[in-house]
Amino acid sequence: MQMDLLNQVQDLFESSYGPRPNSEGIRRFFSPARINLIGEHIDYCGGLVFPAAVQFGTIIIAQPNGLGTVRVVSINEPGEVEFNPAGNLQPATPAHWGDYIKGVVVEYVKLNVDVPGLDVAIGGDIPGGGLSSSASLEVGIAVMIEALTGYSSSDDHFTNRQALSWLAQRAENEFVGVNCGIMDQGAIALGKKNHAMLMDCKDLSINYYPVELGDYSLLIVNSCKERRLGESAYNRRREEVEQALSILQPVFGVTALCELPIDRLDDALACIDDPLLGRRVRHVVSEQDRVSQAAAKLSSGDVKGFGKLLNASHLSLQCDYEVTGHELDTLIGLAQEQPGVLGARMMGAGFGGCGLVLIKTSDVEQFSRVVGAAYRTEIGYDAKFYPAEIGAGAEEIVSSSHGFQQ
Ligand code: GLA
Repeated sequence: MQMDLLNQVQDLFESSYGPRPNSEGIRRFFSPARINLIGEHIDYCGGLVFPAAVQFGTIIIAQPNGLGTVRVVSINEPGEVEFNPAGNLQPATPAHWGDYIKGVVVEYVKLNVDVPGLDVAIGGDIPGGGLSSSASLEVGIAVMIEALTGYSSSDDHFTNRQALSWLAQRAENEFVGVNCGIMDQGAIALGKKNHAMLMDCKDLSINYYPVELGDYSLLIVNSCKERRLGESAYNRRREEVEQALSILQPVFGVTALCELPIDRLDDALACIDDPLLGRRVRHVVSEQDRVSQAAAKLSSGDVKGFGKLLNASHLSLQCDYEVTGHELDTLIGLAQEQPGVLGARMMGAGFGGCGLVLIKTSDVEQFSRVVGAAYRTEIGYDAKFYPAEIGAGAEEIVSSSHGFQQ
């Protein structure tokens, strides 16, 4: 599938900028999407989260053009973006997909990196919201810029990728204007094949856990309900938890909500008068506890116990954090009832987009049929289903043996 995508982006590159008889200097990059096993909406509360990079993602083909301007075309979006990397770049109004690219360029320019004029073609096969297509693009552009300019913030690959993740997050926070946490950029820059990443969002340290599920698999379920992360609800949740922290900080001496242990939850809730803020705190503290339990269950091979935590996470996101919505609740509710399913939950920012299901591999076909039909009846359009394969982080494609499926 990705070979198809690579060919499509290559065709777009040539049709936009002319055939290149000399392919020297043309560089290709792949930047994945991410799933999140558990630990939702707590990366910006100093939490531990448990994401992984997947097989879907963004292809970027680039070549210096000697023109002093960056030109970008996409197979997914109309039009061309063209800008002077050293110019006074500003986000577009209304927001535009080019902002993700410009925002990353701006961050390298701030570091005095001389970003050259480039011809760029991009294309993604990320099936729906909740898998972080924005971070996939930002991190891919950052990896491209570092490869083309030779810039690196550290000789140590891991340390450099941590810095690259923070840079990509700054691009999204400051240029695009979405106050996202660090989970997506970190997962995409630091992913490891067949491993989930227990990521400490305070310092981006990571413990890699092999994902060995035996007879079970991870299935991405797409509600096909559109949502935009830029919508105010995400930023509002951040404001709510910051407000809650300002109440709890003087009492408990914590600098982040996730520092509150689960056995202090009732004491914390007793300090909060506003029931809405109380629900937000209950989600954050209980979700943090579920992440630690989930990592222990995964490493001891307790796949069933792991699945129960996914269900509990969804309920908390639905009732306490209120970021699901009718489509996701319908889809996840249907999923949880099916034979062979050990657990299911929404993923990412929520309000639509994708969820994750832990299911017996031999039951996937029947699941897709039954849940597909029931979802269509209830919602009026189709959901989509994709087996998740855990892949590596963003890299330059150095040969056809990059791990792409032919
Ligand atoms: C989005 C954000 C992340 C994280 C998730 C929710 O994907 O980009 O930083 O907050 O939502 O867990």
